[in-house]
Amino acid sequence: MKLTIIGSGYVGLTTGACFAEVGHHVMCVDNNEEKVKTLRAGKIPIYEPGLEPMVRKNVASKRLSFTSSTEEGVEHGEVIFIAVPTPPQPDGSVDLSFVEKVAREISQYLDSYRVVVDKSTVPVKTGERVAQTIRRYAKPGVEFDVVSNPEFLREGSAVEDLMKPDRIVIGGNSDRALALMQKVYEPFVAPVLVTDINSAELIKHAANSFLALKISYANALSEICEAAGADVLKVAEGIGTDKRIGRAFLNAGLGYGGSCFPKDIAAFIAIAEQLGTPFGLLKEVERINQRQLDRFLDAIREALWVLKDKRLAVWGLAFKPNTDDVRSSVAINLVERMVAEGANVVAYDPKAMDKAKELPFADKIEFATSAMEAAKGAEALIIATEWPEFAAIDLNELRELMRTPMIFDGRNLLDPVAAKSFGFQYSGIGRGVTPERVE
Ligand code: UDX
Repeated sequence: MKLTIIGSGYVGLTTGACFAEVGHHVMCVDNNEEKVKTLRAGKIPIYEPGLEPMVRKNVASKRLSFTSSTEEGVEHGEVIFIAVPTPPQPDGSVDLSFVEKVAREISQYLDSYRVVVDKSTVPVKTGERVAQTIRRYAKPGVEFDVVSNPEFLREGSAVEDLMKPDRIVIGGNSDRALALMQKVYEPFVAPVLVTDINSAELIKHAANSFLALKISYANALSEICEAAGADVLKVAEGIGTDKRIGRAFLNAGLGYGGSCFPKDIAAFIAIAEQLGTPFGLLKEVERINQRQLDRFLDAIREALWVLKDKRLAVWGLAFKPNTDDVRSSVAINLVERMVAEGANVVAYDPKAMDKAKELPFADKIEFATSAMEAAKGAEALIIATEWPEFAAIDLNELRELMRTPMIFDGRNLLDPVAAKSFGFQYSGIGRGVTPERVE
């Protein structure tokens, strides 16, 4: 099929590449000419395992092309996906101006029947607005349908998530459009859930909020475990083995970050408010998430007394492992707060250093070229992102390098008993049992 994706960011580019990979002819549109040039050359602006070779291969086989012309895109695709940013506004609600603009642009070039698909994460009822906008601006009588088809990809495993999705959600009110959408997804082996547009839009926000809720639940438990003398990892395992609960997303830590969860949870709170059905539970999810970082900083202050002029090594800047994305990264937030207190932060991340160096306060921190180099002479080591290479570190060598052997493990990456046996003062999240009592 001929498909068009408008917006070649994380979701648009990965979706486009995967659609091309399964045999569709995909045109990706982006209004950034430089980006289009880079993409045409087979280079991608993000670190995402498996994506670059897939883009190159499909560009070479002419199933994937890039353009900055929306007109060309609208002409090409029988199905047009909108995958433009939906950034948060100061009050948490979603800025839909990019979606609205694209809807107007599409309507301008619409000549014959097209399915217009909302791929971006949008508030419920956006589909209705997109349809209204296209109808208002398009030539009279031109046929189209609007469909919601939310994306559930995770950064770091985006290609895998798209190629082997848990489910495909298609929300639409027209049989003609739904039949075309079924055809788009025919090559993918996954259950397809067909709903009305509003339900499909809600599914996306409800799914992300539920996952965030699981994380905040684990984080709230971590505080109780610390107070009660229990181990949150054991508690998570104990409840997670119940099939109805599941172990995934019950890892206590510094809280959730990234370009999706913080924004989507705030958006869902705002949407519920606007609908006159306030979602108090989600406000608590947010509160617990913010509190987790405050508690972690308190623990560091409690141990070090004063942060000013202390040399603090920070391992991990990305918002999670396997990505170079530092947007709304809790690790970055943590570094920023420690720097504001006068700490000398030496940071290292396997992939996110370049992106972190572009941040406004980057000149106030030192960037090391390896985890060990960051730890040299440090008075404490803070683990902020759970990159596997940090778990495999030689604790003996680390102990020798540091000025004072203290570890604050914000992602429960290390084994407290092992850390203690190498002479470290170790502090994890929700690990209220003393290392002697941890098995
Ligand atoms: C998320 C959703 O998983 C995905 O389905 C959606 O389409 C976009 O948002 P992503 O933002 O890539 O994907 O990251 P994810 O792996 O979900 O992690 C989000 C945050 O939660 C990270 O900061 C991570 O460190 C944190 N997290 C995750 C925890 O703190 N504990 C956990 O148990 C799981």
